[in-house]
Amino acid sequence: MKPVLRSARWFEPDTMRGFSHRSRIRQLGFSREDFLGKPVIAILNTWSEINPCHYHLRERAEAVKRGVWQGGGFPVEIPALSITETYMKPSPMLYRNLLAIETEEILRSLPVDGAVLMGGCDKTTPGLLMGAISMNLPSIFLPAGPMLRGNWNGQALGSGTDLWKFWTERCAGSIDAETWEQMEGGIARSAGHCMTMGTASTMTAVAEAIGLTLPGASSIPAPDSNHVRMAMATGRRIVDMVWEQQTPSTLLNEHSFDNGITACMAMGGSTNAIIHLVALAGRRGFALPLERFDTIAARTPVLADIRPSGRFLMEDLYYAGGLRALLERIRDLLHPDCFTVSGKTLGENIQGARVINDEVIRPMDQPVSAQGGTAVLRGNLAPGGAIIKPSAADPKLLRHRGQAVVFDSMAELEQRVHDPDLDVTPDSVLVLRNTGPLGGPGMPEWGMLPIPKKLLDRGVRDMVRLSDARMSGTAYGTCVLHIAPESYIGGPLALVHSGDWIELDVPGRRLELDVPEGELQRRKEEWRPPPPRYTRGYGALCAESVTQANLGCDFDFLHAGGETSEPDIF
Ligand code: FES
Repeated sequence: MKPVLRSARWFEPDTMRGFSHRSRIRQLGFSREDFLGKPVIAILNTWSEINPCHYHLRERAEAVKRGVWQGGGFPVEIPALSITETYMKPSPMLYRNLLAIETEEILRSLPVDGAVLMGGCDKTTPGLLMGAISMNLPSIFLPAGPMLRGNWNGQALGSGTDLWKFWTERCAGSIDAETWEQMEGGIARSAGHCMTMGTASTMTAVAEAIGLTLPGASSIPAPDSNHVRMAMATGRRIVDMVWEQQTPSTLLNEHSFDNGITACMAMGGSTNAIIHLVALAGRRGFALPLERFDTIAARTPVLADIRPSGRFLMEDLYYAGGLRALLERIRDLLHPDCFTVSGKTLGENIQGARVINDEVIRPMDQPVSAQGGTAVLRGNLAPGGAIIKPSAADPKLLRHRGQAVVFDSMAELEQRVHDPDLDVTPDSVLVLRNTGPLGGPGMPEWGMLPIPKKLLDRGVRDMVRLSDARMSGTAYGTCVLHIAPESYIGGPLALVHSGDWIELDVPGRRLELDVPEGELQRRKEEWRPPPPRYTRGYGALCAESVTQANLGCDFDFLHAGGETSEPDIF
């Protein structure tokens, strides 16, 4: 027997309100038979002209609508906050939770039975999914898809990764202005999200691996006609999901999250995924300790040879067989019995997927690196934990002892880091603080601190760098990130002085400040909290409620257990 549709509460009663709800749909030019008795599907579209990663989504929503009509549903496209990684300041991360709230409340307050979530630029994937998990209506995610490879002078350019790399060369004086301008015009050639293994490619792959997209959806480049077909199939499928009452809570469990982490590791995924996965699991009602990432990383080889850890780009991954082929290759590391939005298990979704190019998706015995791309560090500098991506670091620096050079803010760093008189050597440890969830605010991606120019001139290209910030998934270097608790609230990072010895031991998973306990205690007593960043508005709400990096930076009141009731309709 078919379930009673949620939207029927709005549309079916023979009441004044029922009349009003029906008449307003008819105002759009539809007849009663177009929507009555059909699943109403919200297409949450994060299209915006200020978000080039999503500029095809308005057109793609039309394909989703075609699919919904074909499936027997009634589509309604609804705009949602477009978090654009490139432009949103002080940090797009500050707004992930706003999109999550918006998603949840749009779905709760409107007469909808299911949702297609359209996004891909870094924070849009977790924001949409967090809201949908909390609302728990049948929901399916349609990834925006990666943009095409960049091209300059016949050379493939990767978003972010090659920007950082060539900017370093530009600072070193080895790239002239004309070449730089040519690169600017060639690095982003089509709609779609960053095509390196940044946060966008990582999180869309994670969404697929935890079971919230149709099989293969995360790998298709945005301009490919297969992306249009995937959009239509997604529209058709959500209608069936409504009738099957397949909600996030029926799909997501600890095993599906293990699949998401495993996919992230095998892809050499972004460290940002850790924060987002912890937040997503929290919305589903369970804790994901950082050590889970370390455990899974230790048993998962990096097979995707994608920048920044590898050589290729997402378009190459698609032609090599895509995520399905990669997951089939690591099937033994997955829980293939987890159900997905396709109505089948993950194991069925990837069955028979073939790797077409072993250079891009490496065989198990020839990985990019034998272990996953993430290590969790603990120690007196990071009692709540810290993260490093060893696969993107200089192996020689993974065990390192050096003296701190401390910057209290990004502004101070910008001012001093290239000063020829800066007291710094290649062995120094650069420390940036006040860049965490509250201090940043919003944990900006400043964790790949620039190498001082005087060291660049000597050929230095990597150093140990510490911060409570995040780092773009497209970035690289020996950068210790997400140090918790953050310095802005008095975490141990706040107590470091320039000249202190710091020890990084990635194989031993340790990060230590070599200062006697008594001296640290004295510094702690002297420490005074900085003034609040915001005294009003959304920023003040964030400051009151945001959790630390190891807890997912969600708002504590959204992370909380319990249920929010359905709206009364009078
Ligand atoms: Fe949108 Fe990178 S800027 S994904």
